[in-house]
Amino acid sequence: VQHHLLKPEPGPAPETSIVVGAGALDALPITVQGAPLVLAVADRSLARGPVGEAVRARLAAAEVRTELFAIEASEQAKSLAAVSALWDAWLEAGAGRDAVVVAVGGGIITDVTGFAAASYLRGIPWVAIPTTVIGIADAAIGGKTGVNLSRGKNLVGAIHPPRAVLADFDLLASLPDEDYRDGWSEVVKAGVIADAPLLADLTARAQRILARDPVAMEETLIRAIAVKAAVVEKDLLEGSRREILNFGHTVGHALEHATGNTLSHGRAVAAGMVAEAVLAVTLGRLGQDAPELIATACGALGIPWRVESTIDEAAFVAALSVDKKRRAGRIRVALPDSLGAHSSSPSVEVDPQDLVAALHVASRMAS
Ligand SMILES: NC(=O)c1ccc[n+]([C@@H]2O[C@H](COP(=O)([O-])OP(=O)(O)OC[C@H]3O[C@@H](n4cnc5c(N)ncnc54)[C@H](O)[C@@H]3O)[C@@H](O)[C@H]2O)c1
Ligand SMILES: [Zn+2]
Repeated sequence: VQHHLLKPEPGPAPETSIVVGAGALDALPITVQGAPLVLAVADRSLARGPVGEAVRARLAAAEVRTELFAIEASEQAKSLAAVSALWDAWLEAGAGRDAVVVAVGGGIITDVTGFAAASYLRGIPWVAIPTTVIGIADAAIGGKTGVNLSRGKNLVGAIHPPRAVLADFDLLASLPDEDYRDGWSEVVKAGVIADAPLLADLTARAQRILARDPVAMEETLIRAIAVKAAVVEKDLLEGSRREILNFGHTVGHALEHATGNTLSHGRAVAAGMVAEAVLAVTLGRLGQDAPELIATACGALGIPWRVESTIDEAAFVAALSVDKKRRAGRIRVALPDSLGAHSSSPSVEVDPQDLVAALHVASRMAS
């Protein structure tokens, strides 16, 4: 188990204590010590199974009064209505400013619960217990919380860093293989944007990662977490560095739309990273071999990164154009400066057709 301290803001802001590894959940009692009330919010599908059981056991050991709430993990339920229901339930339970919230689940649960904690009585502390690879490598790190509106995803929210993140691999045991595997594309992304040796290590350790070897997971996930934490930390002083976290996502989101959300987020981002890397080569930002290195890492991890040639090109371009990063017909894409390095203003403006062309080149790549 490794420990990482994320200082989210310059000055006397509280730090986030990040514990990563099999058994990290054992730190839960320490994180809620002294609180008169713990408000535990879990993914409904996990609350009654082994994950809920493990969390309840640690809270019982902490000897703190605990109220447990179960919520639904769907993009539809990632809503203000869900947040409002939590506020009411917490009020009903008599929660004051000294209560501590514990969120147990994937990115949907940590986004909703974190936002409820950010806004309840103008903000109470929370602890994130991510139960997906996306949650560990991305969603639970950095303090971004929020909900969807009917007009779009993640349109309302707050920055409210959790007091602690407990990333315990034992909680991933029930995660279906496809979700587990596809989530690693966010780890590949971390390597491409800020840690080139991580990209090579992911390829080298892919078999062990797919076998869910806890040591291989720990060695790689801690570095993806460190990348996200560092980008978020520096962004608070600079403003646009954070855009690099969208690498692979401009094309990825458009592919998700164009395929009617039949592609998993991880698969779409894998395809998006290869295509955006092809574009980056033409702009002189990445070396010739970068698209191949990214495709090789994704392939080794079992993530299908190649998009079918049947993709509806008109729908893809239309989806690119509604992307919120768009400015006057041009598309903003965040690219590294070289493999494993990026600047404080990573975005460039390109023509949608440049991305169509890059996607074509990517789909013809050998590996
Ligand atoms: N705040 C951020 O910085 C940030 C970053 C990335 C993604 N996100 C958000 O995260 C969400 C996606 O994250 P996600 O994929 O973790 O979503 P999720 O919470 O929907 O989990 C995916 C699915 O896996 C199930 N599940 C979760 N843990 C499980 C486990 N251990 N065993 C079995 N099933 C399990 C869930 O019930 C759900 O059906 C999106 O809403 C996205 O916007 C936020
Ligand atoms: Zn993503």
